[in-house]
Amino acid sequence: MERAIHPDLEKILFDEETLSRRVAELGAEINRDYAGQEIVMVGVLKGAVVFMSDLMRAVTAPCTLDFLAVSSYGKGAESSGAVRILKDLDTAVEHKHVLIVEDILDSGVTLSYIINLMERRNPASLKLCVLLDKPERRRAPVAAHYRGFSIPDEFVVGYGLDYAERFRNLPYIACVKPSAIHQ
Ligand code: IMP
Ligand code: MG
Repeated sequence: MERAIHPDLEKILFDEETLSRRVAELGAEINRDYAGQEIVMVGVLKGAVVFMSDLMRAVTAPCTLDFLAVSSYGKGAESSGAVRILKDLDTAVEHKHVLIVEDILDSGVTLSYIINLMERRNPASLKLCVLLDKPERRRAPVAAHYRGFSIPDEFVVGYGLDYAERFRNLPYIACVKPSAIHQ
């Protein structure tokens, strides 16, 4: 039976089963690459929370968690380019293997800021894991070491991703109707 979706949503892009299968594959890749090493998973609040909570359970390597919150000034679907830290890490990452976990790599402005910030703290290694990537939108030169899915330039919500703070709790990822987006 077709699931009824919210009137502001166009279609389901990735359902729960597809997401969980891909997250398991990413976890397996991470386990292979970090064999014998301890990972500090750094989640970018708030969008990464759902993805990270599934990903960490697919990781068997020893792992600790920390979180960053940043704001890219501007609301709605477009990021303005200026980034500011709202919450810094609780722990020091010097000489640690840091894996940044983010929901989506869009323009790359937020993640290039975060990567520069982490690099200055002298980690043993620094990698990036994103669930979604919109390569067409890139303005800053950022590439993910682990990437769930590459998607076209469409605004998506669910599984942690929001539109004006809504829809994060959807268990699937869906496209928002262009008519429902107010820039
Ligand atoms: P960037 O700095 O442009 O790469 O912005 C990345 C941030 O923009 C992500 O962490 C998301 O919070 C947000 N974002 C970008 N595209 C989408 C989308 O399609 N849906 C929801 N949030 C998005
Ligand atoms: Mg985000």
